[in-house]
Order: sequence, then C-alpha cells, then structure tokens
Amino acid sequence: MVEESSIGFWFKGYDYFLDQFNATKNNVLKRRLLFKKYYILRGEEATALFYDQERFSRHKATPKRFKKTLFGLNGVQGLDGEQHKARKQLFMHCMNVDSLNQLNTYFDEAWFEAVEDWKAKNTINYFDEMERILFKCACKWIGLPFTKKDIVNQVPRISRMISSAGKIGIQHWRGRSARKATENWVKSLIKNYRNKKKNSDTIFDHFIGYKNPKGKHLPDQIVAVEILNLLRPIVAVARYMTFNLKALEDYPSYKEKLRENYEEYGENFIQEVRRFYPFFPVISGRIRKNFEFKGHKFTKGQRVLLDLYATNHYAKLWKAPERFYPERFMNAQISPFNLIPQGGGDHYKNHRCAGEWITINLMKRNLYFLIYDINYTVKSKNLRIKKNQFPPLPANGIKISKITKLRLME
Ligand code: HEM
Repeated sequence: MVEESSIGFWFKGYDYFLDQFNATKNNVLKRRLLFKKYYILRGEEATALFYDQERFSRHKATPKRFKKTLFGLNGVQGLDGEQHKARKQLFMHCMNVDSLNQLNTYFDEAWFEAVEDWKAKNTINYFDEMERILFKCACKWIGLPFTKKDIVNQVPRISRMISSAGKIGIQHWRGRSARKATENWVKSLIKNYRNKKKNSDTIFDHFIGYKNPKGKHLPDQIVAVEILNLLRPIVAVARYMTFNLKALEDYPSYKEKLRENYEEYGENFIQEVRRFYPFFPVISGRIRKNFEFKGHKFTKGQRVLLDLYATNHYAKLWKAPERFYPERFMNAQISPFNLIPQGGGDHYKNHRCAGEWITINLMKRNLYFLIYDINYTVKSKNLRIKKNQFPPLPANGIKISKITKLRLME
C-alpha cells in the first residue's frame, strides 16, 4: 500500500519529504499525491539520473493545473529530444555576454529611476517595487513595447501566475485568468508587430521569426507562451531579491562583511540565498523505459518528482543545511547535480533553467545596491515565511522606509 501524502505535503510543505528522506535514510520515496503514484527523489546521484534523457521524459509530466497558471500550454518545458533542443536554443541564443550585460544596464536604470521616487515616499513595499523594476527592464531587454498602464495591469497578473501555481479553488482560477489576460496582451503586441512588418534585432523579433526543425513558424499562441517564459521568471527574481533583503535582516553580520569585501562575499551570499530559501519545491518527469535504481523498479510511464528543496538541504551535500552560511561556498564543489534551485544538468541540453545566469547577475546587482546605494529601515516586524506556501514570501513583500541614497548614479 503506497502512502497518500497530499495532506501532509499541503500542511508541512517543503519540509514534508525532506523529513521523510532524513527519517528513512533513503533518497527514493514511493508516495501518492492526489491518488497518483510517484517516486520522489533527492540527492546528487538521483538528480543525475533524473536528467538522463534516455530514461526520463517531460512529455505529459507536469499536471495541467500548473501549465494553465505557471508555464502555459505547449511551451519548452514539456518538450523532449530534438524538439526540446531546438526550442531551448531559442532561449539560450539570448544568454550571451552582451545580451546579459544589456539586461544588467536596463536593470540599473530602472533601479535608479525608482530610487528617486522612493526618496519622496514614506514607505514602500519592497517586493512590489522589485517586480515593477524587473518588468520594465525585462520588457526593454526583450523588445516589448509597454505603457504605464501595462505596468499597472500586467505586473500583478504575472505575479499571480507565480503565486497561484500551488493553489487550489478561487486562487487557482484567478491565476488562470491572469495568464489568459497576459497571453492576450502579448498576442496583441505580436499582431501589431506583424502589421508593421518592421524587422529589428530584438529578442521579440527573434522569437516571432523562429522556425522549428520542420521549417515552420510557431503559432502566435506559443510565441506568447515562450515570451512569457522570459518575462514571467525575470519578474519572479523579485522573490529572490526579497530574500536578499530578508537575509541581510536575519543575518545582519553579513552587511558589514559585504561592505568590507563585496568581491569575496557577494557571490557566496547569493548562492546561499538560492540554496537556503525555498522556491520551487519539486520538478516532474515520467519514466521512458524500465530500469532499476537503489533496489526500486522504475517502470515506463511512472511519474517521478525530483525534490529540489530536499537536495539543497541534504546534509550529505551541504553540512548543517539549516544554517545560513555563505562561507560554505568558498570551498564548495558545485556540480551540475548538487546545487539545484533552478534545476540541474546542462543549460543547453537539459531542461535546466535557461535564466540561471540572469538570476545570479540580477541578484548580485540588487545586493550590491542594497549595500552601497541606499540606506533604509525595515518597517515590517514579521519577516517569517510559511513553509507550506509555494513559493513563499515574507509578510507579502517587506515594507521599508526612510530611504536615502548613499552615492550618486554612475
Ligand atoms: C526566480 C528565479 C528562477 C527560478 C527559481 C527558476 C527555476 C527554474 C526551474 C526549477 C526550472 C525547471 C528546471 C527543470 O525542469 O529541469 C526552470 C526552467 C526554466 N526557466 Fe527558470 N527560474 C528562475 C528564473 C528564470 C529566468 C530569469 C528565466 C529567463 C529569463 C528563466 C527561464 C526558464 C526557462 C525558459 C525554463 C525552461 C527550460 C527548459 O524546459 O528547457 N528562469 N527554472
């Protein structure tokens, strides 16, 4: 009899399977979620296995409820083999050094513009502000035209696509309608673009002009889904930026360390924020052919979850995993399969997050600005996060006040 875990997972969240892996000293669990059988995996070896494309497929792996809110239908996440490789190249084409530097510049501009506004305000919601900054710089980077009204309308919708991913009932339906509205907005931009027939050298142009291995353009609906696979996760980086701020409050000794030696501490701090704080709990796959692993028989068609959080909190990989300790990265051996907040394997060949370098860059700049660019006081009293919120956020975003600028814009 395979244990039903939905209620436990719902209540205990990220720690639910982590505790069971630890208690059973086993990195393979067999459980039911909403009555469906899953193997649940954690650890470096299991991650390497999960990214073996001969054995695992992504086709029909993710439940529809996540596609209809978070990912969109028929996007890169559900493709396998050559089809996946070709579509992934569309994304990786934008991840060269010049393009990433351009995004950094747009981020800096949007940050400095916002700081001017903050100085005149008593209090701001830091998370909301980061989302707006990221929306602006992402649209500029992609080449999406936007108005002030678009910022007001689209940012909360994109945010809802992310926050509704693990929800049921009314919140799930609100996430679906947010996705529909934002996809329609992108489709209207595509239509306008085609009507003007203006070729440009933007990412938007590149996505619209993309032809699949059969030589066919993608339908506008799928182009919109894939454009949102850039825009939505860039806006999601606001969550990690909120964790940057939270970590500085929770572990204030690092403020001084970062001020004294940003070169040494900056990168380690960011990596620890990504390892330590919960984001996506699991990713899903399906078994492609029968095999055995650790004495378990994996059979074709079976559902599997790779537990990202439990792997990032596995004591065999990360000593004292529940301690926030950026110094661990001074000597850490990072492999493609041990630090996996944004998936594992190879960025080009596997489903590993296409925007991992963007995420790290933007987090680093944000941390640098928090340390060197502004002075602020955190007004929110409670910065705790709920371990059963997917993904969690402290007090809906952290309020900060008394913002003053420390240095002039370069
Ligand atoms: C907020 C920070 C982010 C987190 C926590 C995150 C996390 C993830 C995870 C867990 C996956 C799935 C990996 C897998 O299935 O093996 C993924 C895939 C993906 N991410 Fe991210 N991501 C983030 C930021 C970004 C950014 C900034 C972009 C783009 C600009 C991006 C674009 C993508 C794309 C296109 C995929 C699908 C890749 C594929 O299926 O081949 N992500 N991400």
